Amino acid sequence: MVEDSGADESRDSVEDTDAEELRRGIRRASEDDGTEGGVELRRYDPGREHSFPDERVNAVLEFIRTDEEIGVYLEAQNVNPVTRKQYNDHGPKHVEIVRNRALCLYELLKRGGVEFNGAREQGLEEADEPVIIALAATLHDIGHVVHRDDHPYYSIPLAADMLDRILGEFYDLEERVRMKGEILHAIICHHTEEDPLTLEAGVVRVSDALDMERGRSRQPYEQGGRGINTVSSQAIERVMLRDVSGPTVLVEIAMTNAAGVFQVDNLLKAKVENSGLEEYLRIVAINSHHDDKQIVERIEL
Ligand SMILES: [Fe+2]
Ligand SMILES: [Fe+2]
Repeated sequence: MVEDSGADESRDSVEDTDAEELRRGIRRASEDDGTEGGVELRRYDPGREHSFPDERVNAVLEFIRTDEEIGVYLEAQNVNPVTRKQYNDHGPKHVEIVRNRALCLYELLKRGGVEFNGAREQGLEEADEPVIIALAATLHDIGHVVHRDDHPYYSIPLAADMLDRILGEFYDLEERVRMKGEILHAIICHHTEEDPLTLEAGVVRVSDALDMERGRSRQPYEQGGRGINTVSSQAIERVMLRDVSGPTVLVEIAMTNAAGVFQVDNLLKAKVENSGLEEYLRIVAINSHHDDKQIVERIEL
């Protein structure tokens, strides 16, 4: 673990970031591009320089991209939540967002000098940390093919079979067993019922909740409904991960109205709690719309 040096300094500089600057940032960053350096980190780009050994995870990501069985599962896992329960998306788009967010959050934490414990405590290498994160993010929701309810538990046997095949391409027997255990740990801990025991698992759990822009919140809601889950999830405009000095990562949430706070409180904060990342994350909600009657301009959660 890294000493929290300079945290107060970074806090002051962050306070100076006003809503107008955020609005400019939102306009600047395009929908799909990663924007780095002072603004935000959004998508993992294998071709960029990273603060960790990235060759292994890049090879695994290429495998994931072209693997037919993974692709079919990610489509099939959306039928129970979306078609049958009219919940929000849990398919390939969700998984892509979670995996990108997770690798970006990992990158920012590594830049800040945070030491991850999962791979290390299994005698694995630093290069295995992002592999654990990428594979857990990819397979965390496949249990939905069995049932939406309690799906994290159903993800475990399904992911275990897939991992035997996938990890066999990259690891020998001992590494395979240890990697499999770490990835399954991260998968089960995306559920708030289980506490992550590794920072790798904490990253996956928090990132699952970061997929909440523009109505994509993870709180199940009925499509077309007008309940608080629907209204508040529509209020989240953009979620940004920003680098601040030291090991602190700023999660900035731009909302079109104050109802978005409900999502942040009920979903994101619940996932951050006991994630092991509490000391490294600052969550700030900002009202991004000009409105004389606005209730919230900027609140720290
Ligand atoms: Fe899930
Ligand atoms: Fe998920």
